[in-house]
Amino acid sequence: MSERFTVAIDGPAASGKGTISRAVAARLGFAHLDTGLLYRAVGARMLEGQEPVEAARSLDPSELDEERLRTGPVAQAASQVAALPEVRQALTDFQRAFARRAGGAVLDGRDIGTVICPEAEAKLFVTASPECRAERRYKELSAKGYDVTEDSVLEDVRARDARDSERAVAPMRPAEDAVEIDTTTLSIEEAIETALAVIEARRPAVRGDGAAQ
Ligand code: CDP
Ligand code: CDP
Repeated sequence: MSERFTVAIDGPAASGKGTISRAVAARLGFAHLDTGLLYRAVGARMLEGQEPVEAARSLDPSELDEERLRTGPVAQAASQVAALPEVRQALTDFQRAFARRAGGAVLDGRDIGTVICPEAEAKLFVTASPECRAERRYKELSAKGYDVTEDSVLEDVRARDARDSERAVAPMRPAEDAVEIDTTTLSIEEAIETALAVIEARRPAVRGDGAAQ
């Protein structure tokens, strides 16, 4: 089977887009790319002293698994380098090739439905209130042993929301044809089922057991 079907899932920090993307990809048998990790890897290299455009051009996909990318300082650095047009440009071809790979792909980020894959067959924009998102991220970071407070995480989330939605190039915003899912009051299972229903409506051949026909 060499189906090409792209699911674009955008939204702000800790809205649940990664959790939904992983589950949807597993259910459909599609590949998944967390594009935030690309920017986080470049941000981490900047914190180590490397020039961000150079870092983006020489990025090695094996860096993307690293646990050190999932910290607050790296997230802030990611959102700084993500405002640089040359950094975004250097990461575009890799994302577009991933999106059109045979067998289907789910990409999550900020600009997948608007810039990377405006032709995506299904587009979702996942949101939740800033307080809810900060509480989720706080729980994750404190469980991993990071010394953070709920207030500092909320401040970080708000700063990143503002930087990501106000930047000149590829700002975070829903594509005109994206379906919005507010996960503030949804369980993880409800959010996944809502997303799958939207995607399945655009792909009638898909069955709940993951078999494509
Ligand atoms: O990828 P993104 O930053 O948008 O968020 P995530 O990593 O998928 O989710 C952030 C946290 O919120 C995770 O710990 C999820 O388990 C949790 N979550 C939740 O509590 N309720 C949801 N409906 C979705 C995610
Ligand atoms: O998981 P979370 O939503 O907290 O962050 P992430 O998806 O790992 O993204 C980290 C940062 O990378 C974001 O705050 C954005 O500045 C940037 N990013 C972007 O500009 N475009 C994307 N497609 C994905 C991430």
